Amino acid sequence: MHAFRPLSLSVLGAVLVVLPSGCYKPGDAPTPGSRGERAASASSDAGPGETAGRTCTIGMSQCNLNEPWRVQMDADIRAAAEKHPNLKVIFKDAQNDTLKQRAHVEEYVGAKVDLILISPKEAAPLTEPVAKAVDAGIPVIVLDRAVQGDKYTCFIGADNVKIGKAAGRWIARQLGGRGKVVELKGLMTSTPGQDRHAGFRDAIGGTAIEVIFEADMKWLEPNARKEMESALARFDKIDAVYAHNDPGAHGAYLAAQAAGREKEMLFVGIDALPHEGVAYVQRGILSASFEYPTGGAEAIDAALKILAGEEVPKKIVLGSRVFTQENVGRGGEALE
Ligand code: FRU
Repeated sequence: MHAFRPLSLSVLGAVLVVLPSGCYKPGDAPTPGSRGERAASASSDAGPGETAGRTCTIGMSQCNLNEPWRVQMDADIRAAAEKHPNLKVIFKDAQNDTLKQRAHVEEYVGAKVDLILISPKEAAPLTEPVAKAVDAGIPVIVLDRAVQGDKYTCFIGADNVKIGKAAGRWIARQLGGRGKVVELKGLMTSTPGQDRHAGFRDAIGGTAIEVIFEADMKWLEPNARKEMESALARFDKIDAVYAHNDPGAHGAYLAAQAAGREKEMLFVGIDALPHEGVAYVQRGILSASFEYPTGGAEAIDAALKILAGEEVPKKIVLGSRVFTQENVGRGGEALE
């Protein structure tokens, strides 16, 4: 375990929360005026007695905060961490810039945080800094998008191949096994984009569903809207749009609506946040949305175990639900 440096605290702008056991091991308690205790009191709303155990610092690197799903992930982490008064989580936003995100990890290693959480933008470029953090003795939990190889402590995320397959099967069923589909892919240098694509293609294999247009919209609604404008201009019959996330499906819907063609096709997305995808299904904008849980609460659970010296599985796979216009009123259905 590492002592927290007050200098890093001011640079990083910390949010203090607390942990009853975790980092604290006998003999590890801060003496008054030690770096650990100063760090705690500097930003603390810790009550009397809460500094008895050493404060654990977690550095979280989020690849961007422009999308509602990522804002929700940070909120889920924060809410789970706040239940543990000796746990402090520092949040950083890489603003969709891989170099910035690499720098985050290096800064957290330099600051000797106790644990790193990362939801990486892309697999390959974040692999090396994560491996170096592990080499430096700092456990790393990778969330949602994977890195390459196995040099990390724990990966937490839903099964994107399974979700892609479920979306493919659902669309094939709705279209009676035959039709023309537009696929708007997530960033294909990120693992969820690759897996949602592979699962979908696998599920429609052997049917008469034809993908007539595909594009990498990089998870972003404005890109999806633009790509869909091209698809609409080129094809006068489109039966369904499969977008790798709900912002993508919504962007496609807006393009179709502007062309007066939104009633001609189904729109299917992934994420199913209550205030985004599920609301779109309720409003009849999307035909279906598949839940992609953020894993924020599970990340804090795993972090506490790691900090307490307990074993955690190398991979924690989260479940998913499908929300359709038929089942949204009863809270969707779990994917088998
Ligand atoms: C947000 C997001 C989600 C998607 C996830 C995949 O950045 O695009 O919409 O499900 O990332 O990593």
